[in-house]
Amino acid sequence: MYNLLKGKKGIIFGALDPLSMAWKIAERAHEEGAIFTLSNTPVAIRFGELNELAKKCNAEIIPADATNLEELYTVFRRSLEIMDGKVDFVLHSIGMSLNVRKKITYDDLDYNYYAKTLDISAISFHKMLQVAYKLDAIKEWGSVVALSYIAAQRTLFRYNDMADAKAMLESIARSFGYIYGREKKVRINTISQSPTLTTAGKGVRGIDALIDFTERMSPLGNADADDLANYCITLFSDLTKKVTMQNLFHDGGFSNMGMSAKAMHVYNKSLENCEDCN
Ligand SMILES: NC(=O)c1ccc[n+]([C@@H]2O[C@H](COP(=O)([O-])OP(=O)(O)OC[C@H]3O[C@@H](n4cnc5c(N)ncnc54)[C@H](O)[C@@H]3O)[C@@H](O)[C@H]2O)c1
Repeated sequence: MYNLLKGKKGIIFGALDPLSMAWKIAERAHEEGAIFTLSNTPVAIRFGELNELAKKCNAEIIPADATNLEELYTVFRRSLEIMDGKVDFVLHSIGMSLNVRKKITYDDLDYNYYAKTLDISAISFHKMLQVAYKLDAIKEWGSVVALSYIAAQRTLFRYNDMADAKAMLESIARSFGYIYGREKKVRINTISQSPTLTTAGKGVRGIDALIDFTERMSPLGNADADDLANYCITLFSDLTKKVTMQNLFHDGGFSNMGMSAKAMHVYNKSLENCEDCN
């Protein structure tokens, strides 16, 4: 432990169960000396395991649907009250697509679901930032991080409308990052993480094959949730004060690869029988 977050206060959105990225980040933030509140939807709190994390980290849970502005105001107001002042960091670790869940393909999108995907997975980030900004809830040199995926830049089979949501999420980090940086010295970044087996990750059909592919393609191998938690702590800490408006790839080098020897080895073995290729 480095005490990197000693005395820092934060809000962590999106921990559901011990596999969640937000769960690992909360555990590491606690180890590094931070105090924080936790938030998730009432349904997630009922069916997930957030109470266990709250106990372990001595954190209060504030329920909220992150698409609901009033509920977001409650999370920020209550957090400031509990922690007796402004926060230093906020984590947005939220994503969901009913089109993905219901296996609806991108050329047949249900537009109500599509709007929900964007609202939950991207616009909620804007809402969170707007609420924080209006309440002046984040200290100078505070840090906000949201979790993204490389499907924002490159097309990945079956990632579907979540790709559009991630592109929007990253754009919001830049657009709000300019204003929040200029006016309040608050930094806003997204981390583009390797595919990881979480509840949301498992919702993407074929995630096992994808994880194998990216593992073979990445010179350092996939980044797992523990690696992500470590990286995220550095972004919440004072060691990265001038990093803002960035999409930071945290993927073992995958994003800059074209073909690796390990992937070529597998590709050479199976050139036939691709049912989904057209
Ligand atoms: N797992 C991966 O492969 C992967 C890779 C890159 C980025 N990400 C991103 O990481 C983030 C966290 O996902 P995860 O993989 O830890 O899965 P997860 O299922 O543990 O977390 C997703 C969270 O979003 C919450 N959520 C859904 N709808 C919400 C709403 N309306 N309001 C508030 N919260 C809501 C869920 O309750 C859950 O806690 C997501 O943004 C995801 O897209 C995941």
